[in-house]
Amino acid sequence: MWVIPGILVVLVTAWFLRRFMKNSNADKLSYWKQQGFTILEETISGWDIFTGKGNVTDSDIEYYKELGRRGESCGVVTELGTPILIVRDLDVVRDILIKDFDNFTDRPPFGEGNKIFNGSLFGLMGKNWRNMRSFLSPTFTSGRIRNMFSHFEKSAANLTAFIKNQQKTSSSTNFDLPVVEAMRKFSMQVITSAAFGLKVDSFHPSDEIIPMARRLFALTMSAKIRMIFVLQFPKLAKFLNVKMEDVEAVDFFWRLISTAINIRQKSGVRGNDFLQSLVDALNSKEAGDIVWSEDAAIPQAFAFIAAGFDTIANNLSAACYVLATHPEVQEELYREVEKVMQSSGDDTISYEEINGMEYIDMFVAETLRLYPSVARLDRVCTTECALPDVGKGGRARLIRKGTVIAVPADAFHKDEQYFPDPFKFDPTRFSQENKAKRSPYAYMGFGNGPRSCIGMRFALVETKVALAHIVRNFEIRPSAGTPIPAKMEKDMLGYSVGTDIRLKFIPRD
Ligand code: HEM
Repeated sequence: MWVIPGILVVLVTAWFLRRFMKNSNADKLSYWKQQGFTILEETISGWDIFTGKGNVTDSDIEYYKELGRRGESCGVVTELGTPILIVRDLDVVRDILIKDFDNFTDRPPFGEGNKIFNGSLFGLMGKNWRNMRSFLSPTFTSGRIRNMFSHFEKSAANLTAFIKNQQKTSSSTNFDLPVVEAMRKFSMQVITSAAFGLKVDSFHPSDEIIPMARRLFALTMSAKIRMIFVLQFPKLAKFLNVKMEDVEAVDFFWRLISTAINIRQKSGVRGNDFLQSLVDALNSKEAGDIVWSEDAAIPQAFAFIAAGFDTIANNLSAACYVLATHPEVQEELYREVEKVMQSSGDDTISYEEINGMEYIDMFVAETLRLYPSVARLDRVCTTECALPDVGKGGRARLIRKGTVIAVPADAFHKDEQYFPDPFKFDPTRFSQENKAKRSPYAYMGFGNGPRSCIGMRFALVETKVALAHIVRNFEIRPSAGTPIPAKMEKDMLGYSVGTDIRLKFIPRD
């Protein structure tokens, strides 16, 4: 049944990629030229992305440099056949993300019919997004995170026990560990227990949730073909029932969340977590501005699982990799952790203690600066408006409704002007004193403005708790095959640690 649409998809996509992807959009660009925007030559084609020869992260840095050479605050480049506006000036970034946010509230859609992504906070648009964001925001207040803290601590203890156990059962005298795999187990346990009250043992070898979650994000050849096809030929994709997402994996999570909601509804047992907020909303007679149904609720839960799983695991893996290759940073972090945890006397750390630690905070920010998991922030212009900044000739430039705006966060992170010697790992860039010396918009590890990461506080506390437990228990070192300097993978979203990277975790006791 799948063979004919499958072959059709591959053929049409390949034909499109080869023939039309590069430099064939002169007509589409005339509007932008008239408005006085600089047109940049595309440095990456769909074909490059498809074959893995190029990635958006590197091409953004090229565009950023080129705009710098031309003294422009922004420019237009064609991507996958569509002109997008790329920004390289922090005042314009501030205007788009914050000051004039009302004109730039949306993100580009995830393809037609993708109900799980388009229905989630990531993909919702306009009023629907605003209503859902106000409903979900209280989930991440300090009080709520403090209530979830025991889950972070417990999962961090499980992680260190898991690493020690792997070591014990390993026959090798030179034990090392695939770091991403271990961090994924931790992040999955935290998000499923803290936000959904589920008893998931992601450290168990027969766990089936992580393999399914991996399928959601795996950028396999087939996933890339589907994605490009759906984005370029939405109507044909709908007709052929070709979906961007891995349907089986999405169904798995849909059922998991739906079952958890039903059990709560039927049992009446209350939980002090995010799932309860959804159950209460679904049970509520006064639904507020949102029309509540499983179709509205499940995508939100799904987004939290998706974001809480991969970004956290990624960031923690990058942090461990940095520690292994920068012993002086590891020593400084260990000293801070040891001082705090020793004083508690029971190998635990409290919410207040974690939030009071300065070095770990700078360390996590510097890891995300150098290796952001989201290298570009996207917004869509929702009303035709003048770019707040004026062009070189001093005239206002109009942006069309529907234009995609790209803020190349990673390129700002690597700009000497804001971060001298940008490829050096130096947590002190984030000391209060150094932060005060640069624009508050230069660092965008969690985005910026009303549409920034809703889970930032949750993510920071979780990451720091895991790191505190790891460095207290182990000294991390590179293993024989660990690439030095660090070799990160770059994909369509940002940086990640390769699943083949192994590190040594040497017990401190
Ligand atoms: C280290 C971990 C994380 C990083 C680096 C990260 C980063 C980001 C970034 C850069 C954005 C886009 C912001 C923008 O466009 O301005 C974002 C959005 C978002 N993040 Fe995170 N995130 C992390 C963890 C989490 C967690 C744990 C959750 C939920 C439990 C979460 C939920 C979300 C949601 C729902 C959005 C969309 C917000 C909206 O559109 O209103 N993230 N994140």
